[in-house]
Parts: sequence; structure tokens; C-alpha cells
Amino acid sequence: MTAYVLETRDVAIHYGGVKALDGVSLTLEKGQIRGLIGPNGAGKSTVIDAITGRRPLTRGQVILDGQDVSQLGAVARRRLGLSRSFQRTSIFTGMPVRKQVELASYKMGVSDSAADAEAVLQELDLARLGDVVAEDLGYGEQRRLDLALALVGRPKMLMLDEPMAGLSVKESLDLAQHLKALTSRWEVSVLLVEHDMDVVFSISDAVTVFELGRVIASGEPAQVRADPRVREAYLGSAA
Ligand SMILES: Nc1ncnc2c1ncn2[C@@H]1O[C@H](COP(=O)(O)OP(=O)(O)OP(=O)(O)O)[C@@H](O)[C@H]1O
Ligand SMILES: [Mg+2]
Repeated sequence: MTAYVLETRDVAIHYGGVKALDGVSLTLEKGQIRGLIGPNGAGKSTVIDAITGRRPLTRGQVILDGQDVSQLGAVARRRLGLSRSFQRTSIFTGMPVRKQVELASYKMGVSDSAADAEAVLQELDLARLGDVVAEDLGYGEQRRLDLALALVGRPKMLMLDEPMAGLSVKESLDLAQHLKALTSRWEVSVLLVEHDMDVVFSISDAVTVFELGRVIASGEPAQVRADPRVREAYLGSAA
């Protein structure tokens, strides 16, 4: 049996009559990137909320490294290694990059937050920008800072909700390379929600497709891309 870093078992979140998620089971292995795609409203952001503890589950379980964390709050789950990046909201625009990352690490309770922050900055090629205030960063660099803030304390799992949105092709490729490097060097597992199909199918080890709160396909990228149901439901029959 494979030891999964993360497993959701039959996870559901209902909002009144709306079944945002309705029985989602998925797994992440160590260092694996799982791409998650599906039409607008399919439940992609909601599954991230379910895993991180931002929304209570209607039913099902979230298992991290074999431990059922379904009843834990978001802060406790983050400390156990379930991290996500938020877009923009996490950046204090007037503060230098290094200081922000150190502060985030300190708040996480990391004992040597300076060393932790430095490692993250090096990994994301942000160390040379350590003294620059966030508002003076380029857009692509700001996205890398979002990622840096999510990486303090060496999480086991990173959940990213459309991290490439608004980036140029070059910036997207750059971010994709950093993600790939992270998974191999730090053995972080990544759940990547992304509309850019080229990025998803090129860097993911596995792809899951959602429709109306359910998994309609899951497997290796090539296999998922060829699935008739996926082509019909999402990629368009011409894909
Ligand atoms: N707070 C809420 N109250 C009621 N319904 C909600 C709430 N949040 C999300 N939903 C509904 O849950 C469903 C899933 O939404 P979700 O945001 O997870 O989709 P998504 O796949 O992330 O879509 P997108 O690609 O547009 O980001 C949608 O039908 C949405 O309208
Ligand atoms: Mg969404």
C-alpha cells in the first residue's frame, strides 16, 4: 500500500441545496504534483478550502500523513504541513521581502525563522531581492513572494489556486520550473488548480478533472487528456 501524504475520502461540502463538493476522493504522494482542472464552479477552490480547514465538511475525511485532520482548524493544519498560497492578500506592500518571509516564519512558530526564511528565498531565487519592498517587485516576483510565504516552515503539502493567473508566458514557465524544482528538492507535494492547460499537462504527475463537485476523471496526464468524457465535458471535442 502506498503511503499518501494527503488523502481526501468521500469529501462533501454542501451549501444549502448547492453541492459544491459531492464525494471527492483524491490522493497525493510525496513530491507529486496533481493538477486539478474543471469548468467554473466545479468545486476546485472548495476542495482546497476543505483540505485546509477553511470550510467545515458536510461529510468525509481529510487525512494528512495517515492522521485524520478533519476536525482540526486551519491554523493547526498549517502547522502540521498543509499550506496554501493566497493571491496578493498575504503581501504587506511596504515591507522588504526578507522581512516579510521571516515574519511569516516566526508567526508559524519556526524556531530559527531567519534560517528558514533564507532557505525559502534561496529556493525561489528571491534572496537577491531581500531588501526590496514588495510593492517595487515585478508581478511575477510578487507571485513568487506569495509562494515563499506559503513555504515557510517546510510544509508537506502546498495547495495553489490559479497561481499563473495574470502572468506572462515566460513568467508562468518560470514559476512552473520553480514548482517542479521544489517538489524534487524539498519533496513537497503540490495540488495545482490552474486554468492554463499547457502548464497543467506539462508539469503534473497526475491530473484530476472535476465537474459539478465530482471527480469525472483521474490519472496520468496523457490518459486524462485522451478520456472521451473529459474531452466532451471540458476540453471541447476538438482538443
Ligand atoms: N460560500 C458559498 N455559498 C454558496 N455557494 C458557494 C459558496 N462558495 C462556493 N459556492 C458554490 O460552490 C460551487 C463550487 O465553487 P468553487 O468556487 O469551488 O468552483 P471553482 O471550480 O473553484 O470555480 P472557478 O474555476 O470559477 O474558480 C459553485 O457552484 C459555487 O457557486
Ligand atoms: Mg476557483
